[in-house]
Amino acid sequence: MQSVAGALDAPAVRHAPFERESLDGLDIDCWMNIRLYPTLEQVDRPALQDSAVVVIDVLRASTTIVAAIDSGAEKIIPIADVETASRLARPSERDAKLLAGERKGCPIPGFDLCNSPEEFTAEKVRGRTIVFTTTNGTRAIAVAAKARRTIICAMTNVRAVASALAGEREAIVLCCGTEGSVSAEDLLCGGILLASLGDEVASETLTDSARIARIIADRYGPDAETFIRSCDHGRRLIELGFEKDVAFCSRVGVSTSVPIVKGGAIVALV
Ligand code: MLT
Repeated sequence: MQSVAGALDAPAVRHAPFERESLDGLDIDCWMNIRLYPTLEQVDRPALQDSAVVVIDVLRASTTIVAAIDSGAEKIIPIADVETASRLARPSERDAKLLAGERKGCPIPGFDLCNSPEEFTAEKVRGRTIVFTTTNGTRAIAVAAKARRTIICAMTNVRAVASALAGEREAIVLCCGTEGSVSAEDLLCGGILLASLGDEVASETLTDSARIARIIADRYGPDAETFIRSCDHGRRLIELGFEKDVAFCSRVGVSTSVPIVKGGAIVALV
């Protein structure tokens, strides 16, 4: 497949490590095998440990994590449930630690921040640890943390993530979805990621889910915001008053941050 026309201003990433390798005197081509899963529930969990896993939750957990890293947060601790998160950031520790997250898209009582990426300004988060719990995103990150390598991807940093995948042979793109259902904005982002990787992906091995993601990216990548506004989750956030978040989360490739999971926390790849 060719790169998405118009969806990406930047050329597809070229990966030096994918040069031809010699095996017993024979030249063989080394491509990146990528499997894309449209929801967390569908992911092949045993396969995670041998793969680089890219976790995508465009609305809004991945975008918020990228924004927090952009603003200089020291680390983000992804937690699946509200009770555990609250125990990890007690009121007496709030100078160093912030408690952030949402349930059903709304703020959690007693938390410092919700899940709007623009809330995570340098003034609020620089140098701090953020204990973070969201409905789908942090649950998916907890599952993906078993992977050989775990990278957080949003529309905002999709090109930087494509570059960071250089040298990988086995990669899994985990689109989080929403409580077991597909989220089209996650597929759009996954499709743009595949397009950014260009010819390095072994395209003949792409599953139907990956091909659908590519088709969505080809068709809707050039006007991502209009598409994301019309998605189920986009509409729900707009109804809840988070229209600005939808616009923020729709911007393609504006961040160079690559958040990775290291020792149970999310930190910047340096
Ligand atoms: C999630 O993790 O489910 C999302 O980030 C929900 C949201 O939009 O806040």
